[in-house]
Amino acid sequence: MERSYLIAGNWKMNKTPSEARVLAAAVTKMKCGANTRKMIAPSFVCLPAAAEAIKGSDVILAAQNMAAFESGAHTGETSVLMLKELGVRAVILGHSERRHVYGERDALINEKVKLALAHGLDVILCIGETLKEREQGRVNDVCFGQLEGGLAGVSMEQMARVVIAYEPVWAIGTGKTATPEDAQAVHAACRGKLAALYSKKIAECTLIQYGGSVKPDNAAQLMAQPDIDGALVGGAALDAESFAGIAGFNI
Ligand code: 13P
Repeated sequence: MERSYLIAGNWKMNKTPSEARVLAAAVTKMKCGANTRKMIAPSFVCLPAAAEAIKGSDVILAAQNMAAFESGAHTGETSVLMLKELGVRAVILGHSERRHVYGERDALINEKVKLALAHGLDVILCIGETLKEREQGRVNDVCFGQLEGGLAGVSMEQMARVVIAYEPVWAIGTGKTATPEDAQAVHAACRGKLAALYSKKIAECTLIQYGGSVKPDNAAQLMAQPDIDGALVGGAALDAESFAGIAGFNI
């Protein structure tokens, strides 16, 4: 079956609101490859400026995180209701920086995934192993555990709004990319896991993005792999020209 591609820029803690406005406006003008959608994920405080800049365009606005609760005494957190009012349509959850720097576990990520889906947001669920886990031969174990933990209680119907992002931790911001073949092997294994958790049809329909040092010069090779359905881009999404080079990949 023919899946579409999703190229998403995770801006992390970069860009001020005025800079975000300029970059978001540039993204609206970028030409995508065939069957490809563009998404940007600015920081919370940059969302209003970015939303204004992409109004009326085909760019999808995403957040980088979200609280596990709707509202209440959660100092420093941002709720799904706040995000929705700003025009956010998707949220990145379980990013490795949330897992490894801020200690988020599968159970918390799962609460967020369920809350986002219940409120109609799309979810990009990030998974991926550390270098140590890879060296121990535990890549599939770790990814399967994160899939199972993150998706617990997510229904078949809701899976239509879930994208998986495979981001090997050792490839993030390091300039080291998994080879297209290595990435493909993990993507195919994860698709197999989704078939076991849900169904073959759901596994075939679910987009699985790759993330970790994606650049204009390696994007096309990665996207040419049968189970790689887009990219979650960090550093290279901060520059309009390099993000355009990835979004416009040509296999
Ligand atoms: P880099 O593209 O900077 O390696 O970051 C990847 C990432 O973490 C995207 O979420």
